[in-house]
Amino acid sequence: MSEPSVKKRGSYLAEVLANEVVCDDHGRLILDVAHFPPTAPGQFIQLMCRPPTPPEAGRAIEWRDGQTPQFTQAELLDSQPLLRRPFSIAGRREHAGGASELDIVYCVKGVGTRWLAGVNAGQSLSVLGPLGNSFVIRRDKPAAALVGGGVGIPPLLYLAEQLATAGKETVAFIGARSADRLPLRLLPNADVRTDGAPSHCAAELAAYGVETAIATDDGSLGMAGVVGEAFGKWLDGSAVSAENVVVYSCGPEAMMEAVALMSLAAGAECQLSLERYMACGMGTCQSCVCKLRDDSAQGWAYKLCCADGPVFDAAQIVWD
Ligand SMILES: Cc1cc2nc3c(=O)[nH]c(=O)nc-3n(C[C@H](O)[C@H](O)[C@H](O)COP(=O)(O)OP(=O)(O)OC[C@H]3O[C@@H](n4cnc5c(N)ncnc54)[C@H](O)[C@@H]3O)c2cc1C
Ligand code: FES
Repeated sequence: MSEPSVKKRGSYLAEVLANEVVCDDHGRLILDVAHFPPTAPGQFIQLMCRPPTPPEAGRAIEWRDGQTPQFTQAELLDSQPLLRRPFSIAGRREHAGGASELDIVYCVKGVGTRWLAGVNAGQSLSVLGPLGNSFVIRRDKPAAALVGGGVGIPPLLYLAEQLATAGKETVAFIGARSADRLPLRLLPNADVRTDGAPSHCAAELAAYGVETAIATDDGSLGMAGVVGEAFGKWLDGSAVSAENVVVYSCGPEAMMEAVALMSLAAGAECQLSLERYMACGMGTCQSCVCKLRDDSAQGWAYKLCCADGPVFDAAQIVWD
């Protein structure tokens, strides 16, 4: 993958403009951040899921060279997480005076995201970013397919906007466990197809002219089954030749592996955003490794998902 041109990053204090319920287990935060560096779809931020306290982002942890970090019992027993949590940028808007609005779509899973769900407009949050590389929009490929599931859907919303700006013909395939856990709004009178065919049904994607196929595990909305099946049917039957399509995917690893295999077999380029447990989010702790093919004797090397990725060329990924 070619490197993104965006390299600046820092720690910022954001004001929460809104914290909206999207579905049973997802919310959308709209953050106002002044002078946030340029970003591109695929990049993420590390959010501190606790109130920032002066000087900026809470207590300093004692961490000297050659020593393990020194935590106190109070820190370990705290009900708010010590480590920041990674979230993809789901959208961005610019305002006068250098202010930027960032959208974060979060799924409530544990201690950090439960805390985020209770955040109110006007509160401050500590944001570290932008982090990671980004999806590459190919000048020479006129079409794009987005395939997302679960917490992999948010970065594809930001990407859909940029693909529309670049004039790409884009179609989306979105998977959720059930209708009430889909982090997208349906258009009024939306015709969500049960055969896995895309239609203008998801408001966030229709806003960029993107038709969307929805698949749910329990069949409560759209096609019953996994979203990769709907994508595979489209790939087989599409009038657009696979060489003209870039497939972008983020979500559960089994879904991405299936999407990668189908795309590469058909001759389409495929870019995947891998998600790993991340502690630092910027290449220090080595907690987020993945295997990428290389020319060494063993044929692969470890890469850091946070710093070398999270977006990788699917053809380079070694699936364990
Ligand atoms: C690059 C990147 C981008 C991400 N973007 C988003 C996003 O846009 N929206 C979103 O909702 N989530 C996103 N995630 C996942 C999100 O960071 C985790 O869900 C979050 O850290 C959970 O924090 P918690 O304190 O609520 O859960 P914890 O209390 O830490 O854990 C609760 C449960 O979630 C699981 N979990 C925690 N972290 C992860 C992870 N990274 N991957 C899979 N399972 C995990 C744990 O195993 C546990 O079962 C992203 C992750 C990465 C690495
Ligand atoms: S999260 Fe620390 S090195 Fe990647």
